[in-house]
Amino acid sequence: MTMSRTMSRTTSTTTRTTEAEILIAPSILASDFGRLAEEVQAVARAGADWIHVDVMDGHFVPNITIGPPIVAAVQRATSLPLDVHLMIEKPERYIQDFADAGATTIGVHVEACPHLHRTVAQIREAGALASVTLNPSTPATAVEEVLGDVDQVLVMTVNPGFGGQTFIASMLPKIETLRGWIRERKLQVRLEVDGGITTKTIGSAYAAGADVFVAGTAIFAKKDYAAAIRDLRQAAID
Ligand code: DX5
Ligand code: ZN
Repeated sequence: MTMSRTMSRTTSTTTRTTEAEILIAPSILASDFGRLAEEVQAVARAGADWIHVDVMDGHFVPNITIGPPIVAAVQRATSLPLDVHLMIEKPERYIQDFADAGATTIGVHVEACPHLHRTVAQIREAGALASVTLNPSTPATAVEEVLGDVDQVLVMTVNPGFGGQTFIASMLPKIETLRGWIRERKLQVRLEVDGGITTKTIGSAYAAGADVFVAGTAIFAKKDYAAAIRDLRQAAID
């Protein structure tokens, strides 16, 4: 389910004059893993657009989560697209496994990919959409040369590894820069934000140009998932 709007919105450097989608991607990291299938189905019923799956290896980030078998289990539980965010070293070793497990989009961190162009091609050859992810300390220019070869850029608005962290507002100019390049080059590239997205922060990320919003705590910590998702959509345009 998506919501669009017709009014233009002006920020310091960006004018959004076309209808912009707002896609909400609940991160299962904040769900009850003991009831994972139920949780995924509950957010799907509540109006989620995608399911965001955080894969961590204890090396690239200081936390360990899940691997391809759990992605396959999520895939069996829902027909929603699976947005798989790999926070792992040498992600090229596992791209085929995550694609086979049912990932719709596979995201790699540019900091983990010295041969990013090749890795992006590998994701597409495996049959998935390619997303490239920037840590807070990594500039937009790190993806400038592959922007025409990807389906999505993910701007981290926290340092990856954990849910429930505080949104880093100084990432907003980076989002504006990327939106500007996507518009100028007339590319069909999604611009996703991840980390600390709440009803208080989503509006600034939307105004800066993001169109996909990952939210863990802001959805799964609430009793009423439908209200949480509705509130996020509304707060984006308020
Ligand atoms: C952090 C993960 C995020 C996390 C977001 O490393 O990539 O997807 O689940 O959690 P919140 O929305 O609670 O900041
Ligand atoms: Zn994530």
